[in-house]
Amino acid sequence: MLLRREEAFIVAAAPAKLNLFLKVLGKRADGYHELETVMVSVDLYDTLRFSPDSSGSLSLRCDDSGANQETGSRAVPEGGDNLIVRAAELLRRETGVTSGARIELWKRIPMAAGLGGGSSDAAATLAALNLLWNLNLSSGELQSLAARLGSDIPFFLSSAVGAICRGRGEQIEPLSLPLSLHFVVARPKSGLSTADVYRHCRPASIPWSADDFVEALKSWRLRPVAGRLHNSLQEPAERLNADVVNLRNVFSTQPFLGHQMSGSGTSYFGLCATRRHAHRLAARIRAHRLGDVFIASSRP
Ligand code: C5P
Repeated sequence: MLLRREEAFIVAAAPAKLNLFLKVLGKRADGYHELETVMVSVDLYDTLRFSPDSSGSLSLRCDDSGANQETGSRAVPEGGDNLIVRAAELLRRETGVTSGARIELWKRIPMAAGLGGGSSDAAATLAALNLLWNLNLSSGELQSLAARLGSDIPFFLSSAVGAICRGRGEQIEPLSLPLSLHFVVARPKSGLSTADVYRHCRPASIPWSADDFVEALKSWRLRPVAGRLHNSLQEPAERLNADVVNLRNVFSTQPFLGHQMSGSGTSYFGLCATRRHAHRLAARIRAHRLGDVFIASSRP
């Protein structure tokens, strides 16, 4: 995530992510699933603006007119259910500060979509309020708060363009990406609950690992990358949601290098050779009217 100071404000650009590889290894005693995943952050951003509130109150206002254009608005919760509010409250609880903040969010990343928008917003909130409130928490301290809030949040807090994430997703090994990656992303009308999808998943049977996937990335060739795409959550997501099956069928008719669902869904992406190729294929996917369709590239 990118932060900049503007007079009394702090402005954050919070990117979306795609899971190019997500292998479920097994269920843990704490109810989570042990996994290894390769995430890349892409050039689709929510914008957040943080300003001090001298009354000590915390408020969130959200403009989500930029998200879910085709699929209809899913209102972002502005109260205590929102991960942004939970991140701010956790910071106050842990540090004992009583400072307030006004937070404005311009939402562009579709919600409940496997694109990490809520997690990215929460990571931006931890980093920005650490500055705004002069808390001086170390990156290690912020990372451990991030992991308590959600499994994907440490990835966004790390600001890595890509990473292998292990454990329940919170152990980050940053990657540099030798290739620019270009995608067509489609977000269908319906979403899925992450907890539901994990409840129905099974350990993967594929023989290759996240390290093998990264080796393919480092070959500088897209075909081996496409050949090793994997998401163990796609099969349970397809059982729970017919939109994901429809997307797979439609993406299969087009010459993508490879395609799969991101995270716990329901967004689906196709890997393209170039950005131009992505524009051409996006127009064909859009014609099926299965939801919002956009182009995304890995961040440089
Ligand atoms: O960590 P997060 O709050 O994003 O996870 C949401 C839900 O997804 C968890 O409550 C859990 O049911 C499931 N989950 C899981 N294994 C993971 C990550 C998430 O079972 N590694």
